[in-house]
Amino acid sequence: MTTTRFLTGITPSGTPHLGNYAGMMRPAIAATREPGVENFYFLADYHALIKCQEPERVHRSTLEIAASWLAAGLDPERVTFYRQSDIPEIPELTWFLTCVTGKGLLNRAHAYKAAQDKNAEAGRESDDGVTAGLFMYPVLMAADILLFNAHRVPVGRDQIQHIEMARDMAASFNHLYGEHFTLPEAAIEDNVATLLGLDGRKMSKSYDNTIPLFCAPAQLRKLIGSIVTDSRAPGEPKETEGSALFQIYQAFATPEQTAAMRRAYADGIAWGDAKQMLFECIDREIAPMRARYDDLMAHPEKVEAALRIGAERARAIARPFLQTLRAAVGLRPLSAAQPQAQGTQKAGRAALPAFKQYREADGKFYFKLVAADGRLLLQSTGFAAPRDAGQAIARLQKEAGALQALAPQLAPVAGVDAGEVSAALQALADANT
Ligand code: TRP
Repeated sequence: MTTTRFLTGITPSGTPHLGNYAGMMRPAIAATREPGVENFYFLADYHALIKCQEPERVHRSTLEIAASWLAAGLDPERVTFYRQSDIPEIPELTWFLTCVTGKGLLNRAHAYKAAQDKNAEAGRESDDGVTAGLFMYPVLMAADILLFNAHRVPVGRDQIQHIEMARDMAASFNHLYGEHFTLPEAAIEDNVATLLGLDGRKMSKSYDNTIPLFCAPAQLRKLIGSIVTDSRAPGEPKETEGSALFQIYQAFATPEQTAAMRRAYADGIAWGDAKQMLFECIDREIAPMRARYDDLMAHPEKVEAALRIGAERARAIARPFLQTLRAAVGLRPLSAAQPQAQGTQKAGRAALPAFKQYREADGKFYFKLVAADGRLLLQSTGFAAPRDAGQAIARLQKEAGALQALAPQLAPVAGVDAGEVSAALQALADANT
């Protein structure tokens, strides 16, 4: 049986709350107990510097997040658990990838475009306040993933584009220097709970409606007391639909307990009693973890030691791999012979453009035509089915005039002229005959 390698990064910003636990940590830890998988989970502290320039917060949050994962049951024996900044091979690979990545690819990153849109709305210059760190972020993330040749990357929907970009970078590098990288795929977990917060909206730091995962029991009780309910009196039947209290209860209770709570709602349980039950239910699950968490926070050296062991395990892979990559790109001792692995780019034959198909967060199917140097030449609009996208690609490759015929399904790409696109399609057609 071949093992699938899962890798994911956790940016240490802020303190984890119950929503992070139920939606992300608990399922991720459960996944490490599956057979046939290998897991790499790391604290993405280089990424944290993009958003946070308060040293004490970065430091504190790294400790809190690491301690939280360990306390919640992450077993460093099963998971290679490390801190990004302990792996110097990551920034080095970032540079190699930077040099095979079209700037145009990064121009289209959602996070960068969102920052530009915000500036446009406010009437500011489009790159106002945008650091090169934000702009380069997809390359750093690709290095995180490709350094360990991960197959699957569990991320939220907002990160799908970054995984796509990592694939593009891996393909460009492989094309130039030989098949070194596995092309990663996003692993999207669709049926995990998004917890509601104190005010009934999604639990989120940005709404200031969270319950910290490891707050003291008295604080937990107090916060649960402040969850919004309606004004129905004890004895009046209550709605489970839309009830944040019920929804949070469900995330921590067994199916039997949830069914019992549903009946209690129908029977008119008093809100105070329901809140007491919720407190007990959460505290039963969290209390042993909280004890471990408090111990780790009091002894940061234990967390540090766990991360150091993880870093050594990770570097045992990263160090030799980076040596291979250095040699592949031409950085090697002057006395050393040419490395074994050769690029797939045959001498005397020009590198070819390529079509790439993918699915976006909107559920639709897209394709794009990418030049051999990674620049985007052509971008489709969304197709309902993958087959429709495939047929459009086939026509573009075979039929003269398909470019005009399919124009309504294609989105313009700034800075690319039609002549270049036709030439690329012609090169592909020639290569296939
Ligand atoms: N950018 C990711 C996020 O904000 C975190 C992250 C950094 C990551 N590097 C990664 C996730 C590599 C998966 C793989 O959620």
